Amino acid sequence: MDTSDPRQPFQRAAAIEQRVHAVQAVLDDRGLNASAAVEELDRLAQEAWVPQNGARVVARAWADSAFRQRLLADGRSAITELGLAMPRHHRQLVVLENTPAIHNVICCTQCSCTAFTLIGLPPDWYKDFEYRARIVRQSRTVLKEMGLDLATDVEIRVWDTTADTRYMVLPMQPRETVDWPEERLASIVTRDSMIGVSRL
Ligand SMILES: [Fe+2]
Repeated sequence: MDTSDPRQPFQRAAAIEQRVHAVQAVLDDRGLNASAAVEELDRLAQEAWVPQNGARVVARAWADSAFRQRLLADGRSAITELGLAMPRHHRQLVVLENTPAIHNVICCTQCSCTAFTLIGLPPDWYKDFEYRARIVRQSRTVLKEMGLDLATDVEIRVWDTTADTRYMVLPMQPRETVDWPEERLASIVTRDSMIGVSRL
């Protein structure tokens, strides 16, 4: 039997769940309450950090052009008008307005950063190495593969999130929704449209 396989040490490692459990147990033993913190994060992710927050922001921007201007000028400050907030380390929210000629899409080439209090935690594909690498270099092709086939005269702008600058796409308002009340407008705004991999 060949025992020189360099992958052997990794194959012997415990499953990720077991390792997480072990680290959590050690932290709990030392009084650091890791399990309680994980439970709280889980609750926030399910109940508080949801794309419905960003959808409300988009709906307000569509319905109120003065708000849209404030949002585009200083996103972090404008969202407080809706009772929304971002963590302190998200120092800037840059809102990217789609137009018939310009389509914005966001990514995090380093890892998985999003404006998660507004658009929710990132979906698995957003964290995928392939998306992070290819959306930058082959944006038109990747968007097409994801179901968004943009006309060749639409300029695509890709924005790479950093630890302190977070982005959110302001999708174009579908023409038929112009007179809708805000709550109904919010109901059609999806997470993917605020990442920029789909249009409404
Ligand atoms: Fe990241």
